[in-house]
Amino acid sequence: MNAVTYDAPLALYFYGSAYCDPADPIVAATYAMLAGEALGLGTCMLGGIHPLIQQGRKAKAFREAHGIRSASREGLFVIFGYPRLRYHQGIRRTFASIDWAR
Ligand SMILES: Cc1cc2nc3c(=O)[nH]c(=O)nc-3n(C[C@H](O)[C@H](O)[C@H](O)COP(=O)(O)O)c2cc1C
Repeated sequence: MNAVTYDAPLALYFYGSAYCDPADPIVAATYAMLAGEALGLGTCMLGGIHPLIQQGRKAKAFREAHGIRSASREGLFVIFGYPRLRYHQGIRRTFASIDWAR
């Protein structure tokens, strides 16, 4: 198994232009994730790839090979696939500001 993209059949890369707000690709990636889930697909955000394709000769070659127009300050991959598992209930997360016991 590819430990970076988990062999997902689809990976979308959201990145910015020189003129955009750094939050733009993050907002777009989040909506794409929600859209994928609404279609019944499995999705996973990947922040680990973006920093590796910003600087240096190999990063530039990767960007050119994949039609990525420029390096950008912020960027996020979202991978999509067909889920093998179906969940019957969600995980109850603990956030510092939320008292779940109430
Ligand atoms: C911004 C962001 C970046 C992430 N980057 C990675 C990543 O590069 N590789 C990875 O395996 N998981 C990454 N994750 C974690 C997964 O997307 C996912 O949130 C995690 O596996 C928990 O999944 P769950 O909420 O279904 O339990 C990232 C999550 C977020 C929110």
